[in-house]
Amino acid sequence: MKIFLDTADITEIRRAADAGLIDGITTNPSLLAKVAGDREPREIFAEICEVVDGPISAEVIATDAAGMISEGRKLSGLHENIVVKLPLTEDGLRACRALSGEGIATNVTLCFSTSQALLAAKAGATFISPFVGRLDDVGHDGMEIIAEIRQVYDSYGFTTEILAASLRHPRHVLEAMLMGADAATLPSKVLYQLLKHPLTDRGLEQFLADWKGSGKEL
Ligand code: G3P
Repeated sequence: MKIFLDTADITEIRRAADAGLIDGITTNPSLLAKVAGDREPREIFAEICEVVDGPISAEVIATDAAGMISEGRKLSGLHENIVVKLPLTEDGLRACRALSGEGIATNVTLCFSTSQALLAAKAGATFISPFVGRLDDVGHDGMEIIAEIRQVYDSYGFTTEILAASLRHPRHVLEAMLMGADAATLPSKVLYQLLKHPLTDRGLEQFLADWKGSGKEL
């Protein structure tokens, strides 16, 4: 399963990329607004593309299909690794079909149901982003749709990749793996929670203490 970092913060991105922990980046307008300051979005995306060699999702702001297509073409022109992120609306799917037809990679976002995911796949989406945590927030079992979408895509032979999003804790990531998601996008906090284990820390401490006691050097 591919792991993407869900952030536009270049310091977080550099740290994870330098450690070889991530395969790509997802952003959204909220994440971009947090780091933008006086910089243009294209500068931020260009910087991210320099640091990470993998899919970098950049989201459109327009809400009509023509506007999304035009923004999508511009975003895609910034770098070959840019994936144009489009909302799961009627216009978003129109734009997805048009951009996919031009060979532009797309990520259809704000997916909250399996039927929406089917429609995105039929529109040629490269990735579908079901929002697990936000479904949990409103009393559903968000992870269920990952399993359902996997089943539907496999049954009908869709190649759209399932990108589990809005993951809030390591258990979400584990379940996404077990359900066969192709990718998961995580905030930094969750990425490092995956890495850490108290028994690893305790074991290492013990190994080092025992070795020190031997008085030898490697
Ligand atoms: O990738 C989508 C993600 O950014 C949404 O996460 O935690 O805001 O629901 P969250």
